[in-house]
Parts: sequence; C-alpha cells; structure tokens
Amino acid sequence: MSDCRMDNMSLTLVHGIPILEDCAKNWDQVELFQARPDDVLIATYPKAGTTWTSEILDMIYCEGDSEKCLRNDMYFRVPYLEFCVPGLPSGIQLLEAAPSPRLVKTHLPIHMMPESFWEKKTKVIYVARNAKDVAVSYFFFHKLVKSLPDAGPWDTFLNNYMNGHVFYGSWHDHVKGWWEKRHEYNVLYLFYEDMKENPQREIQKILHYLDRHLSDDIVEKIAQHTSFEKMKNNDTVNFKNLPSDLINHSSSSFMRKGVAGDWKNHFTVAQNEKFDEDYERKMSTTDLHFRTEI
Ligand code: A3P
Repeated sequence: MSDCRMDNMSLTLVHGIPILEDCAKNWDQVELFQARPDDVLIATYPKAGTTWTSEILDMIYCEGDSEKCLRNDMYFRVPYLEFCVPGLPSGIQLLEAAPSPRLVKTHLPIHMMPESFWEKKTKVIYVARNAKDVAVSYFFFHKLVKSLPDAGPWDTFLNNYMNGHVFYGSWHDHVKGWWEKRHEYNVLYLFYEDMKENPQREIQKILHYLDRHLSDDIVEKIAQHTSFEKMKNNDTVNFKNLPSDLINHSSSSFMRKGVAGDWKNHFTVAQNEKFDEDYERKMSTTDLHFRTEI
C-alpha cells in the first residue's frame, strides 16, 4: 500500500497520507479489518482529546465505576486500530481478541477508513480541536514518542504541520473530511473546547447518541474522574506502563496542559499571521468553525 517514502525519515505515504512506516507495513490488515455493529469508534486527528474521550467512553461502559477503568492501560482498553510497532501487540491483534462491545480508537482521515465500519453502521464519535492548540500539543508529543520523527525546532515543526507533512497529514483536511460526511455516516461530531467548557453537557450528548441512560450522579462522577487533574495522576492514561523504548517520559508529559488557548504561549506574532492567512485559504469553503480560546 505504501507508495512513496517521505524525506521525513520514518513516514511513508499511504493513500497520500504520511503514516509511520511500521504502521504502513500492516496496511492490508487495516483495510480488511472487520468492524462489528456494536463497536463504538473514537476518531480524531492526533492531540484533539482522544484519550480524554476514550476514558469518558470506558467510564460510560463501566457505568461510572472508576476502579474498573483502572484495569488496564488505555492502549489495551481502547485499542488503536491502525497502530503497529515492534514491542507491542498491534491494534488489530487486540481488537480481534476483544469481546464485544469494543471501543476502538483511530486517527485515520475519513477516506482511509476500512469499509466495514460503514457496512456495519458502527457508531462513530469524532472529536476536533482547534488547529493552533493541536499544533503545540503535537510538537511536544513528538518529544515524548520515540517512533515519531524528530520534530526539529518549533518553527520547522509548525511549517511541516501547516503543510500536512506530519503523521496523519493535514489537520485541515482531516477535520473537514469528517465534518462533511458526518450526516451521511451518522457521526457524532464533538469539539474539545466544548468538552472543556461543559463536560457534563458533552457526556450527555454522547449518552444520547449511544442511546444509553445514566443518572446525573453518575454523569457527574464521570466528569470528575475524567478531569484533567484526575487524568494527569492516572498512570493508565499516561502510557506509563508502555515500554520505555517507545515513550520518553523525561522529555515531555502526555497530560501536558489540557487547556484551550495555550498556543498563545508558543506562536510568535509572525507565526500567527502566517498561520491565519494559510488557515483562511484552507478553511474558507467550510462552515466548520473552531474556538481558539474559551
Ligand atoms: P495538551 O498537550 O495541549 O495538554 P490526545 O489524547 O488526542 O493525544 O490528546 C492529548 C491532549 O489532550 C493533550 O493536550 C492532553 O493534555 C489533553 N487532555 C487529555 N486529557 C484531558 C482532559 N481530561 N481534559 C483536558 N485535556 C485533556
């Protein structure tokens, strides 16, 4: 499936999208993946709040029992569909062995989704976060994960990100692609900034979409357990149990800041102007809008 190796070391183009070489080698398996009708898929561009949403979903499935959610690392509770690196079972291996109902994580752009998700009418929750905070979060994430290419200095990374020369490609295409098809595929499209603003309200939206009911007390418990402060101190959502040759915990923290608007501490005035101009061009044709602070 890989059609071209990028200059960028460990990334290879798959269907036009830069993908980690180790994951790209497994692409036939990804395309053949068999979804189940009672799967729930959490889809995001990286750094949009995937782990947060995954913890909320697992808490919903455990009916607010936080002890049950500590049973295993997030990588095993909500397997990462297309992920495949030496030293860990692949996402597909974990998913195939998992009993129903499964929670599934993906960062795939919509055009790369395995067909069976649509055939089985699997429910999908897409979470989007504003482009500037994602850029900053992704930059620091590259320092944490050893298999990602070297991010280089911030200015270089920001240019690569704007041009889609990072793992999973263009943020703009990703959020627009899922937005445009949300009705066709019955996708629940959520925003990180809304979750920050009112987590209880967004948890209720998820419950409604899943056709589940939990009491207000349990919803409150889920919101508390999945607050940034609680998740920062929860090893199972910080990759603390994954092999140290995959994650470099000394150089950054997975639960880093957890706010909307941190980009202001990193973008220079010139970077911001250039970013806005590029953003305007790429997003002018969509009615999808983001808040860059709350
Ligand atoms: P920052 O790097 O800006 O802090 P993902 O799980 O998609 O990789 O996203 C990680 C980002 O979501 C990180 O952003 C992380 O801190 C933030 N995050 C994780 N859990 C959160 C929570 N409970 N509340 C707010 N932000 C959270």
